[in-house]
Amino acid sequence: MKILYATSEAYPYAMSGGLADVAGALPKALRRRLVGCRVVMPLYSSVPEELKADMKFITSITVPVSWRRQYCGIFEAKYNGVIYYLIDNQYYFKREGLYGHYDDAERFAFFSRAVLEILPYIDYTPDIIHCNDWQTAMIPVFLDRFYCHDLRYLNIKTVFTIHNIQYQGKYGFELVSDVLGLPEADTPLVEYEDCVNLMKAAIECAHRVTTVSPTYAYEILTPEYSHGLHPILERNKHKLCGIVNGIDTVVYDPETDKALFENFSASAPENKVVNKAKLQEYMGLPQKADAPLIGIVSRLVGHKGFDLVKCVFEDMLKADLQVAILGSGDWEFETFFYEMAKRYPDKVAFKPGFIPDLARKIYAGADIFLMPSKSEPCGLAQMIALRYGTIPIVRKTGGLNDTITDVSEDGGNGFVFQNYNAHEMLDSVWRAVGLYSDKEAWQALRDNALSIDNGWNISAGRYIKLYKELLS
Ligand code: GLC
Repeated sequence: MKILYATSEAYPYAMSGGLADVAGALPKALRRRLVGCRVVMPLYSSVPEELKADMKFITSITVPVSWRRQYCGIFEAKYNGVIYYLIDNQYYFKREGLYGHYDDAERFAFFSRAVLEILPYIDYTPDIIHCNDWQTAMIPVFLDRFYCHDLRYLNIKTVFTIHNIQYQGKYGFELVSDVLGLPEADTPLVEYEDCVNLMKAAIECAHRVTTVSPTYAYEILTPEYSHGLHPILERNKHKLCGIVNGIDTVVYDPETDKALFENFSASAPENKVVNKAKLQEYMGLPQKADAPLIGIVSRLVGHKGFDLVKCVFEDMLKADLQVAILGSGDWEFETFFYEMAKRYPDKVAFKPGFIPDLARKIYAGADIFLMPSKSEPCGLAQMIALRYGTIPIVRKTGGLNDTITDVSEDGGNGFVFQNYNAHEMLDSVWRAVGLYSDKEAWQALRDNALSIDNGWNISAGRYIKLYKELLS
């Protein structure tokens, strides 16, 4: 079985969110189970130089983008045993940041077309092209419309994974002929609610649609979570399933992680407290061993639950606890945390930005990890926190529901609240803080967390089953 994993980002070449972690880890896990899997992604100018130095130039071709033909350099690299193809075009990918440009639709239409065009030149004809999010949503459509008469492409199947249904790739109708190069008669395929919607087209055209947790697969069939796509998903329900992500347990390993102040593990957890003390110092907080330290590592946007946090934050601070926050996002939340840190310097520390090294220090040094998302397709941070012995407080939604069980239940590994309600969240915080004061119970919870396996093994098996069903 041969899989080509098409993604707009993958660890360690280019990262902006959870997709990069998944694209870095799943192909590796598939290969470990002897499934051929290669990755194809854009060659952004931001790819680290040392990785660029290890790339091999294969050839260059031109790729149609409607009436244009654009240069496409094909580079190959190997990382952790996985082969990566990096698609070069400096006009499209020599930019600041991965996304957010006026012509993103054209950039990723080019990339999607390139994924199909390079096949004869890379000597790899996949059985399945596994596409991810709107940036690669046109692959199933192009395959269906432009390549189905070509023997090389005839038997290729497609899987489309939704990592976050909020970002659908919505554009104006001029895209259809000018960028996608589709005949006018195909407009209905990409049209949804008076605009072009690339994710909708992929849901219709792909042979299978997956999302990143079983709960989210159910949630996106409802108007509350679907961002308008539930009617499309409902009629394609027979193709839809949810497979929870894992984390890369080699990349995230408290025993070897160089970002930590001191390493620790399930069999020798003692040094976790050293990480807490040093994190407190690093963040400018007093080194109090007995005050529970709550960590937050997140984009600071509404759907991650920060309106709840903001609403009861000062109530929370009435208890003897500390909060360390890392993240950037909406001005509203950034200024709020700045102000809180200024007003309560002994209790609150805030660092803006996306700083992977500090994120790991927080995962390892905190006692409790707060993640009250309004919606969360899967979420990786709660699993990374567990891996570092830090107990999550989460809302019961999406992958948070599938990975965290409340301590009041069998196999409990965290604190879960049901409704998107600030006081319900606060109640979970009190429960966590209460249990923290019972040293023995907390240690048992921490030791259990350190021994949980949230790696890719089981989920890679589920993908393999899905691939096999699709090919049979
Ligand atoms: C997106 C989702 C997140 C998920 C990640 C990887 O970033 O918001 O919940 O964990 O993709 O699938």
